[in-house]
Amino acid sequence: MSNSIVTTSTIKNSKGIKPLTMITAYDYAFAKIFDQAGIDMILVGDSLGNVILGYSSTLPVTMEDMIHHTKAVTRACSRTLVVADMPFMSYQVSTEQALINAGRLVKEAGAHAVKLEGGAEITATIEKLVQSGIPVIGHLGLTPQSVNQLGGFKVQGKTLSAAQKILQDAQALATAGVFALVLECIPHQLALKITESVNIPTIGIGAGNNCDGQVLVCNDLLGLNTEFTPKFVKKYRNLQQEIFTATQEYINDVQTRTFPATEHTFSMQDEVLEKLY
Ligand code: KIV
Repeated sequence: MSNSIVTTSTIKNSKGIKPLTMITAYDYAFAKIFDQAGIDMILVGDSLGNVILGYSSTLPVTMEDMIHHTKAVTRACSRTLVVADMPFMSYQVSTEQALINAGRLVKEAGAHAVKLEGGAEITATIEKLVQSGIPVIGHLGLTPQSVNQLGGFKVQGKTLSAAQKILQDAQALATAGVFALVLECIPHQLALKITESVNIPTIGIGAGNNCDGQVLVCNDLLGLNTEFTPKFVKKYRNLQQEIFTATQEYINDVQTRTFPATEHTFSMQDEVLEKLY
């Protein structure tokens, strides 16, 4: 476990040296644990929409949602690099609006970098953000903000033309100045080809073991997700079950007056009590 502060240079210089670790977080309590555990990067993902706010996609997530949760995460972190997702329609309309919104995530919420979904079509925006001093991570493959265009949450890049497009997009993003690239739900062979073709670290999620790093949604890996678990997730714990059982124990303790016990209880001096009666 490392105690040193992670910067964008640390991330870029790790390529080919050591695998990078990234996990999502949306609040102070979880972010503090991940920061202290030694994670390289925390992503305040717009998966916030699904796992915290209960939407069926990331599309309804707003700038205000992202700023609110990113602030909570950055308050908890002393060494981890915090990356905030730019939500749907916060960067697509114009480069100017993208700059204003990315600036808010850095200036108001304390993010160290932002992440944008998309390929060659967003390189002008990326260049503007990078020139303005805002580090950017790219995101290719299954890009959840385009779920309606992709026709669902499916593995991307399986045909030759689709694979070539993702490879070209990766090269375009690297040239535009992203310091890392998330690759979501693509065949592991394509992820390897991209990883070998760009000079920035690739961070995989459902993209096999040949990327320069890995990212998972914290609720998935901790077993807090009671619904569908994607094939690429390794569930390290079943916290949903733990929390369910703990809640039932609490209900039972209260109903049987086992809780609160003496050690959880305050008392007052007898002479004060006598005067009260
Ligand atoms: O929003 C998110 O959690 C993400 C990860 C799946 C990479 O973008």
